[in-house]
Amino acid sequence: MREVDRISLKADAPAKAMAQVRCYSDAFAAARGRSPRVFVLTFGCQQNVADSEKLTGMAKAMGYEPTDAPDDADLILVNTCAIREHAEKRALSIVGQYKHLKERNKALIIGVCGCMVVQEHRREQLKKSYPYVDFVLGTSVLHRLPEILSKKMAQKRRLFGSEEENAIAEDVPVVRESGYRAWVSIMYGCDNFCSYCIVPYVRGRERSRAPEDVIAEVKELVAKGYKDITLLGQNVNSYGKGEAHGIDFADLLERLDAIEGDFLLRFMTSHPKDATKKLIDVMANGKHIARHFHLPLQSGSNAILAKMNRHYDRAAYLDILDYMREKMPDLAVTSDIIVGFPGESDADFEQTLAMLRRARFDMIYSFIYSPRKGTPAAQMENQIPKEVSAERFERLLALQEEIALSANQPLLQTDQRVLCDGVSKTDTGMLSGRNEQNKIVFWADDGTPVGEWATIRIDRVAPFALYGQKRK
Ligand code: 5AD
Ligand code: SF4
Repeated sequence: MREVDRISLKADAPAKAMAQVRCYSDAFAAARGRSPRVFVLTFGCQQNVADSEKLTGMAKAMGYEPTDAPDDADLILVNTCAIREHAEKRALSIVGQYKHLKERNKALIIGVCGCMVVQEHRREQLKKSYPYVDFVLGTSVLHRLPEILSKKMAQKRRLFGSEEENAIAEDVPVVRESGYRAWVSIMYGCDNFCSYCIVPYVRGRERSRAPEDVIAEVKELVAKGYKDITLLGQNVNSYGKGEAHGIDFADLLERLDAIEGDFLLRFMTSHPKDATKKLIDVMANGKHIARHFHLPLQSGSNAILAKMNRHYDRAAYLDILDYMREKMPDLAVTSDIIVGFPGESDADFEQTLAMLRRARFDMIYSFIYSPRKGTPAAQMENQIPKEVSAERFERLLALQEEIALSANQPLLQTDQRVLCDGVSKTDTGMLSGRNEQNKIVFWADDGTPVGEWATIRIDRVAPFALYGQKRK
């Protein structure tokens, strides 16, 4: 069995630190006539969104009021991503913009958190070149926020050690952004070491929450009226590996599906090698499990898949995909694709296009390969020139657009049950929401409240959206 520390934020050390910071916040409020404010900025994946909800939750429990304006904040937490270089550059540039806030407000505390700061070279860079950053806090130690803040307040010095832990923290306060969609982390870390990926280095070893803790959290969310609940993990379907309880992801999903109520269950991200027929059967027989499977393919070439250390080939991927579609003909399948992995030849790329035509994904997230320091792929020969990757990327998008449009055609004149997200960001006369397949649906604003279900008759489809009228 693997060694995982299980920490409760109600227990002595964290609870003591929380109380100390709370004292500081109370003194601040007494002197200034308002509570201190926290601004949390999130980059990256849903896991980071969920982590940020915990950062806000802990800050709130320590007396901070959440704010949307960095200019008004007394504590700024930037929750970073390291998956591609672009994400890191954006985070560093934003942190750079906070320099002038610190000049205006000397008491402002700035913490840079998350995946980026687990990397030694980034910590060094922040320490040297960003003197107004007060502390860093890596992904596996986010629950140490109370302790680092109380230390910072007592000692005033900058804190740049990041002692990563193989821990699971429970009883972490959460401030959820939505009252109807919720994220529930069920496992942390990743042991797959795909050769291009930084995640195993920055999120640590795989470790799973206890099934009873996950079940209790989902029950509580359903009781509070949450209607769309996504189970999260970097490798969500390897849940339970190495744990004594013997409950795997399919078992957990089946137990969660048995909870009474009007809600949908989703999960991401799954690895094809852990997508078992047992899991598909649980989905097919489920009452609450959304008809959507996100199954990253990454490449359609067996040679590249082997170099990526993905542990499956085209045939194995198609085997599980065909099984899913046979059991659930209305299932939407989405995927992740990387173009320009080192050594990717024209022929390899053609194989990816061929897999797209064969798999007919409803949607893909596509990425140009970005070398990550410390990963094996960054050392591989034959890095692909930018122009070649960019050209392949465009061809990939064009093909996928055709496929997505034709995959949406059968939805014309069907009724789709949609959870309303409110007024569309691009067209204020329209509402938008997501159906069970996670497709975005637009309809004329008829006053449907945010977080309510609506039934929409689809009368137009596009590659990335469906349009229709609300059924009375
Ligand atoms: N370069 C480009 N894309 C990457 N991904 C992960 N690492 C890299 C990288 N170094 C993509 C994968 C993964 C998704 C979350 O990000 O497709 O599934
Ligand atoms: Fe990265 Fe692969 Fe783990 Fe996904 S499964 S987080 S791509 S190492």
